[in-house]
Parts: sequence; structure tokens; C-alpha cells
Amino acid sequence: EIINLDPVSAVKGNYRHFMQKEIHEQVRSLTETMAGRIDFQHNSILIPTLNIDEVDFDQLKGIKIVACGTAWHAGQVGKYLIEEIAKIPVEVDIASEFRYRDPLVDKNHIILAISQSGETADTLAAMEEGRKKGARVWSIVNAIGSQAMRLTDGYISMQAGPEIGVASTKAFTAPLVDLYLLAVMMADKKGLLSAQERSQYIAEISKVPDLVGTCLDRENQVREIAAKYKDTEHMLYLGRGINMPIAYEGALKLKEISYIHAEAYPAGEMKHGPIALIDEDMPVMAILPHDQWYEKMISQVEQAKARGGKVIVVATDGDTLASSLADDVLWIPEAFWMVNPVVAVLPLQILAYHIAAMRGLDVDQPRNLAKSVTVE
Ligand code: G6P
Repeated sequence: EIINLDPVSAVKGNYRHFMQKEIHEQVRSLTETMAGRIDFQHNSILIPTLNIDEVDFDQLKGIKIVACGTAWHAGQVGKYLIEEIAKIPVEVDIASEFRYRDPLVDKNHIILAISQSGETADTLAAMEEGRKKGARVWSIVNAIGSQAMRLTDGYISMQAGPEIGVASTKAFTAPLVDLYLLAVMMADKKGLLSAQERSQYIAEISKVPDLVGTCLDRENQVREIAAKYKDTEHMLYLGRGINMPIAYEGALKLKEISYIHAEAYPAGEMKHGPIALIDEDMPVMAILPHDQWYEKMISQVEQAKARGGKVIVVATDGDTLASSLADDVLWIPEAFWMVNPVVAVLPLQILAYHIAAMRGLDVDQPRNLAKSVTVE
């Protein structure tokens, strides 16, 4: 018997690529990111490394999220969560912009950096800029002991485990859960939640690993759709509200690893330009879960169809209207609307992965990209 001693294939296990393995690790990584943080007995959230008790919420003017790439998309979901649950104003900045624009920040702001590697030069510089201006600096970081974890007043560790694939997957969903927990924790500190509301929030987020598991079980259905679209040259992703950043993230995954030109837009902006692009060669991916933006998204799908476009939708199980309008459906299970982004991104990660793999590309190390960008 031949024993395979190649360390890389040993770590990859039965998966062809690290990205695929990391996509499949998300049930575990999301369980880990919640483990020890949720006290089910008292229905509360505990993140001691954040030092949240040092914050004077009466004086707090706002939170400035700074990040790059995929982490910036997570930050945009975080804005919805924190403003909705904790009622604290949030701005989300690309770190390389924030560091050079003399941002209006003082000691009554929190800078919240999000970074998988904790070593991205622009993100570290944005944190430094905030610190110089007297702000409290927090981070949500995956790499243990990285600079963005050490140089802060408080941090949340993603607990996603090492991520090797350049295209980030499990280090995107982990901060979504962390941001939700943070929002609930801050709302609680501000006295905004009844015991019942708090336990409701906790109950909804606790379902995430199972919901993600359901999406992973559907990999073969997604692969079939990938086979239909693998030769497209363009793809337009549309989303609204809390799922608008998921459109951006889906487009980023596709372009990074498959080299297909993919763009994302907030769906309401279609009429201001991108609708001119729609024809049979420009498939549209519409993120269409059951939420308060559903009707608006349906009308975007109808408009794209009316102009001859092919439409793929990410839709909630049982949505017969969506399936009657769309050419193809990526089905997701029903979830609380604030949890939808974590679920809706799964089929988009899987789709991008299979399209790139079918095109025979180096999925884990796409051309011109680096896992961690430690220079400007
Ligand atoms: C690089 C990676 C991206 C990542 C970005 C930010 O561009 O290829 O996947 O999203 O850096 O990295 P960070 O480590 O700060 O999350």
C-alpha cells in the first residue's frame, strides 16, 4: 500500500482545491465563531477580547468600518446590521481611501477594521489614522497574533481557521456572524433590547450553520448551472438592501478566479446606466430572497427579461414566482432577513468555484492576485 505523504494533498483531503474545501468548512467555521460567544443560559453574548465595557455609548458618535476586498463587502453588511439592531451610525470605507482623506474622526468614534490576514497594509494604515485622531480601534481578524489583532483596543477573532485559497470564502461569512453578534451586544449595552428580543436574535443566528449545511448539500444543482454559464464573457449581479453587498461579493468571486468580467450594482441603479448592457449575452444574477426588498427585485428581474436577458436568481425555497420568471434558480432555505446574506452568498461561492474549475483555471492561485497584500 502506498501512503501519500504529500502534505498539500494530505491537507486538501478529498477536495480538488483549497477553495472548495474551505467552502465546505463553513458549517464548522460558523459554529466555531459562535462557540463560547453565546451564553444560552442567560441569553447573552460575550466577547471579552473586545473590552466593550470601556465604551461610553452615550458619547459614541459612530463607527467607521475600514477594510479591503472581500472584507469591505462584509463591512457593508455590517452597516445594515449595526444601524438596524444597535442604532449606531456606521460608515464603511475602503481602507486605501480612508487613510488619505483626512477623515472626520475623534475620540468619540470607533474604527472597526475587518481583515482575514490582519496584515493588509492599507487596513493597518487606516487603523493608525483613526488612532492618531484619538478614536478607539477595534478589529475583526482571522489570523491569530497578526498586527490587526495586536494593535487594537479590542478585537473579535473570526475563528475561521487558516484560509489558503486566494478567493476568500469562510473568512467572508465568519465576520458576517461576528458583526451580527457585535450589533446585538451593543444594542444590549445600550439597553435597546427586551429579553425576548435578545433571545430571538440569538435563536435566529444560531440556525446559520444548519442553513449553510443545506446550501452545501445542493452543490450538484449549482454545478449544473455552472456548466450552463461557464463560457459567458460577462455577468451582471444585482441586489438590494442588506443583500446588495452580496451581489458585489458574488461578482468579485467570479471575476477573481474565472476571469469572467462581472459587475455588481444596487438593483435600483439599473435604470441609470447598466440596463443598457442587457442582451442575451449578458446574464443577470439577481439576489432575491424573501425580504422587504423582494417586490423591487422582482420588478428588476422582469425588466431584464423584457430586454432579452438571461436571468439567474438566488431565491428562497418554494418561491414559484421567482422560478417562473427566471431561467435558472439557485435555491436557498428560508432565513431571518438579517441572516440572509450568510446564506445567499453560499451558492455564489459554489458557482464561481465550479465555473473556474470547469474553465481549467488555477482556482487557488489566480493570476495577479495575492492572498495578503502587505504593501501599498
Ligand atoms: C487580497 C485578497 C482578498 C482579500 C483582501 C483583503 O486582495 O486576495 O481575498 O479580501 O486582500 O485582505 P484581508 O486579509 O485584509 O481581509
